[in-house]
This record gives sequence, structure tokens and C-alpha cells, in this order.
Amino acid sequence: MKKIVFLLCILSVFLFSYTKKTSINSNNEDRFVNDLLAKMTLEEKIGQTNLRGTSSMTKALPEDLKRAVRNGEIGAFLNISNLDYVDELQRIAVEESPNKIPLIFSRDVIHGFKTVFPIPLGIAASWDTEVAKKSSEIAAFEASAMGIRWTFAPMLDIARDSRWGRIAESPGEDPYLASLLGKAYVEGFQGDDLSNPTSIAACAKHYIAYGAAIGGRDYNTVNLSEPLLRNVYLPPFEAAIDAGAATVMASFNEINGIPASGNAFLLKEVLRDELKFDGFVVSDWDSTEEMIAHGFAKDKKHAAELSANAGMDMEMNSTCYADNLKQLIKEGKFSETELNTFVKNILRIKYRLGLFEKPYRDKSHTGNYYAEAHMQEAKKAAIKSSVLLKNEGILPLDKNTKVALIGPLAHAPHEQLGTWTFDGEKEHTITPVDAFKAAKVNINFAAGFTHSRDRSDKGFQEAIQAAKASDVILFFGGEEAILSGEAHSRAYINLPGAQEALIHELAKLNKPIVLVIMAGRPISVSNIMDKTDAILMAWHPGTMGGEALYDMIYGVAEPQGRLPVSWPKTAGQLPYFYNHKNTGRPASAEEFIEMDSIPIHAWQSSLGNDSHYLDVGFTPQYPFGYGLGYSKFRYENLSISKDTIGFNEKITIKARITNVGERASTDLVQLYIQDVVGSITRPVRELKRFEHVYLKPGESKEVRFSISSKDIEFVNHKMIKAAEAGDFNVWIGENAASGLKTAFYLKE
Ligand code: BGC
Repeated sequence: MKKIVFLLCILSVFLFSYTKKTSINSNNEDRFVNDLLAKMTLEEKIGQTNLRGTSSMTKALPEDLKRAVRNGEIGAFLNISNLDYVDELQRIAVEESPNKIPLIFSRDVIHGFKTVFPIPLGIAASWDTEVAKKSSEIAAFEASAMGIRWTFAPMLDIARDSRWGRIAESPGEDPYLASLLGKAYVEGFQGDDLSNPTSIAACAKHYIAYGAAIGGRDYNTVNLSEPLLRNVYLPPFEAAIDAGAATVMASFNEINGIPASGNAFLLKEVLRDELKFDGFVVSDWDSTEEMIAHGFAKDKKHAAELSANAGMDMEMNSTCYADNLKQLIKEGKFSETELNTFVKNILRIKYRLGLFEKPYRDKSHTGNYYAEAHMQEAKKAAIKSSVLLKNEGILPLDKNTKVALIGPLAHAPHEQLGTWTFDGEKEHTITPVDAFKAAKVNINFAAGFTHSRDRSDKGFQEAIQAAKASDVILFFGGEEAILSGEAHSRAYINLPGAQEALIHELAKLNKPIVLVIMAGRPISVSNIMDKTDAILMAWHPGTMGGEALYDMIYGVAEPQGRLPVSWPKTAGQLPYFYNHKNTGRPASAEEFIEMDSIPIHAWQSSLGNDSHYLDVGFTPQYPFGYGLGYSKFRYENLSISKDTIGFNEKITIKARITNVGERASTDLVQLYIQDVVGSITRPVRELKRFEHVYLKPGESKEVRFSISSKDIEFVNHKMIKAAEAGDFNVWIGENAASGLKTAFYLKE
């Protein structure tokens, strides 16, 4: 008892001093920000809302930019890679501008800075928050050496369509996984303390539903019901904001007719009032001005009025605010009080970043670019992200196997880095060819192509010769970096150029073919599937991709990724996502009638009238959550602690997992739930928990998951978030299309 009292005393002293400390800090922060605001002119306040860029081609720092900083007309810069410019602009701001307010330097530091990690969709495939956190921590460390204190990441757009180029930057299709990743990225970039000079402010983007662009075409219109928005697209943002994300970026797209950049409901009601976001919101590049093209604003002044009244704090690149806010205030179309709120939001983040105390980059902080520790983390991330999709016993290879390295990505140092790599230099990339040579493996290398889109068969003969001289063909196919990412949507998602044709030629040699894919999206493999003995998806794996692939191919390590998106058979199935609704006529294997089996002159209504495609059916090539390792697992003894629970009561679901293969391996145990009947229809399955389990051959473990009615809440058509009484199905399994099944009842 004494012990407990003692512990309670310690705890209360701790809690008291902690709350005291935080409130003193926020008092200081408020006082500082308010005092500073009181000294600022209207022009300076507008200046804080202005985020400017310089072209990387700029030979000298333009005089007009320096003048603008001197006058306090600019609050932040993006994409300045010349360190002298960074130093000089900051010097002008803190020594010569009226109130000496420091600038923030920002950049798209998306999946690494110099040391490039796998693309975010790859990181998502690791299902490992430590990978997300560590990669962003290293990226922040390296980038901050350049004076960068703000990144435009993490991108938290749920992506259900592999045609969309920006799926590469996304956390995948599932809101639960994306939320965990969102939190981890923010923690990694921002660290424990934003004022630490190696921490950088995160930016949860693109708010919101950018990934729901019709047809997967970038920037396209979004039509979305509010429950869908709240149940699927909003949770990752909520998680990032709860984790303390300093900034949020509004998206390019319109949602139900109103562009996100002029959407007061989203920027004020949802973001500020509901989610209690207290950082600042930045537009996307020109997205305020683009409301003219959307047909929402008639000119730049109108665009400024709409964005400002919607609650956008800072404008990126376009100058609607800089040119018009003063006049709008004069005309009473926007208020200085609201502008004050914007400025306070911005100054608060500058304060938290410690910029008023330490505005300059620390010249002794070199960033340790490409340090061995960074490179090893990047390699680990590439291994944890790679998804083994098919393996007919060929992998891992024996070290003495003679291999042909073929394909446009076998030795493409820039391409394997993927989209958004402004800073990672290809000279540091380790390609598969580099790694295999360094390991002194017996290789015959002939790319067969000059690049991934190459349609010529000029290189085929050389590739075939290399294959003939080898035991196994390793075909490194995929997309160049430029084929995914912003504005790079594709209508066909097959291997581009003549890659499929070469694989067909190579298959004639009757040698095993391992297809390694490096791409920014799932690639349709249906035309080449039966020509391959194994398929390994490495995404764009980053600087250390080659070493990671070497280790996986030879079994030094095992690919550990699982799909964070459903892998379609063909683009015609898209959008496809595992957490879809059932429809009134759910497709089933029993009812499905494949096109070729339809009798000629069949009577219209005599065939299975289900929701499917006659030619490709209703299932993806590989389901969400899918991925193989180098061992096999048995799932058994599923049990549930109660078959009926009340609200807020916990339930435990467990299963025994056994490694029945011959090597130690890690499996990803996943728990899915289906709310069978809802006041609005509910998805066929929803991911609720997962756990990595490492088991030696023959070893087994009981995996337990605990959930409560909180975990099955959703927003209904009345915008009420609650769990609803009724029946629930539960699965524990290895992916969204399999598993052991049980059920429980949630009673009133
Ligand atoms: C992209 C953003 C990016 C910004 C700044 C825009 O085109 O949509 O994701 O952060 O440019 O580079």
C-alpha cells in the first residue's frame, strides 16, 4: 500500500510539473506570437502568408527576391538548393527586415534526402511503423543540414487506383495502416522536439481525397459522400494531426464541386473545429490561383478571397494573396482579424521550430550524407518493403547459380530511386548489377533495353545470349522513375515498352525466370505471369536497392513486405480495393461465369447476374495484405473470448501460428472485421490489427488481438460516429482474402 501511495505521489509530481511546463511553454508561445503580431504592419502580415520558390536554374539570387525579404514580404521559401542563397536570404530576413522574422526553408523531402529510401508505397508495404519513422528521421537529419526545416510530407492520400501516378507516394488503400504510418512519419520528421535543429516540420498532404480522382487521372474531379470522406480519407490526417503534424497542405482537387483550396467546410469546420489542428495550412503549388481554371474563382483576386475566407493560411507559389489581400481587407471582403489568425498560426510554427532563437543552419551539422548507418537503414527498409508475389520454389538461389541479369532496371541508378528524389545522387546508388558484381556472383549482364519504355528489339539478341550462358534469368523490369508520381498516371499499367516481348522470347529458352519489378505502382503481370517462376516486387527501392535485392535473391535475407494495395489483374478493374461493399449481388466463385464459357446465343437472363467482369472476374491478381516469405505458416485454433460484448467492452481474438517450413521467417498476421448489417452499408472487410511474428521452423505462437466497440465505429449518413449493435465477422489470416473466421455480437 505504502508503495502505491509513494508511486502515486511521484506520478502526481511528475504530471504536475509536466502540465506546468507545457502550459508555461504555450503561454510563452502565445505571448511571443501576440507581441510580435502587434508590431507588424498589414504588409508584413501578408508577407508571412507568402511561400516563394526559386528555380534551381537560377544563376544568382534575384535582387527582387532579396528586396521582398528585406521588406518582410515573404514568409517562407521552397526548393532552394544553393546553401549560399539560404544563408543570405535568412540573413536579410533576420537582420534587415522590419521585425526580423526568420524564414522557413522547405522542400519535398519525401522518402529520404540524400540517402534514398523506398518510395512511400514501398515503405507502406513494410507494414512497419519503425521503418516509416526511421526513414523520416534520417531524411530530417540529412535535410536539416541544408537549412531545410519543413518538408512537404507525409503524403497521406488513400489510393485505390494504380493508374494514378501518385499512388507511388501514398500509404496505400487502407485507412488503418495509413493512419499508423502517418503518425510514424510525423514522429520521425519532427522528433520529440521540433526546436531540435535536426527536426523538420511535417506537412500532412494533400488535404483531402486527392487520391479519389476519377479514373486515376491526376488532378481530376472528386465526387465523394461525406461518410466515405470521413471513414476512409480523413483518418490518416486525423492521426497525423494527433501526432502533432505542424502543417497541412490543401489538395489540388475539387470535392463535390468545391476545390479543397477554397473549401471552408474542410479547412475550418473539419480541420480546425473538429480535429483541433493548430499549425498552419499551405496551399499546393498554385492551387489557389488554379481555382480560376476550376471555374470556381473569376480571377486572382476572387481566388484570394475564396481561399482566405476558407481558412488557407499560406499560399504556395501563386501570388493571389500577395497581390490582393490588402485590397480585399480594405473592401471588407476579408478581415484583418482573420489574417491575424493566419499569421499567428505561421509564427507559432516558426516559434516551435526554434527559428527565432536559431535562425541559421548549423554549419557544423554536415548531415552525414550516405553515412553507413543511413545506408544500412535504407537497405533494411528495402528488404522489409519488397513483396514476394510468386515463388515456385526457385528463390532463394544457390550462390553458385550462374545468373543472367537482364532488363531495363538491372543497372539504372537514377531510376531505382523513384519519384521525388531531388537530392539523392545516382552516383551513390547500388544497382543489382553493382551488388552482384561486388558479391562476385557469376553473372552475365545484358539490359536488353536502353530504358523501360524502349520499344526496340535491338538489344534482344544480346540479352538472349546472356540468358543462354546462364542457369537462371533474373529480369529486372518495371518503370523508370518518371513514369509514376505527380501528373504521371497511366491508362495501361503493364510493363512499358517491349519488356513483355523480351520476356516471351526468354521463356522460349526454358530456363527459370525470376521477374523483379521496380515500379511506382502495381504492374499488370497477366500477360507474362505463366512465363515466370517467381515475381518479386521491389517498388522503387532507393539507394540500397541492389544490395537488398542481392540479399533477398540469395536468401541472406527474406522479402518481408505485404501488399498495401490490391494488385489488379488489369487496369480495367480499377479502382479496386479490398474494403469494398458487397452490392446486392455479390460476386461468388460458384455463380461466376467466365466469358468463354457463355454458350453462343445464351439467353440474356440465364447467366449468373453478379457484380463481376466477364473477362477478369471479380478478384484481384493478389489481394491486399498478400506476400510470401521463404517459409510457410499454418493458422489454427482461432478463438474469441466472448461471443457477445457490450459497448466499450474488450474482446480478445487469438489464433495459433506455426512455422511449418524449413527456415526461420516472419509472417504478418492480420485481423479483419466485417460489420454485417449497418445503418449505412459496411465494407466486406476492414483491417483492424496486425502483428509481425518471427518464428523458427516448427515453432509456434499464439497471437492475440484485443479490440473493443471503439474499433468498429464508423460515421453514418447522419454524420454520427458510433459503433452499431449487431453481428460482426472476424478473420485472422495472411491477407484480406483468406483467414480463419469467427463472429461476435455487439449488444445494445
Ligand atoms: C505537389 C506537392 C508538392 C509541391 C511542392 C506540388 O506540385 O502536388 O505534393 O509538395 O508541388 O513541390
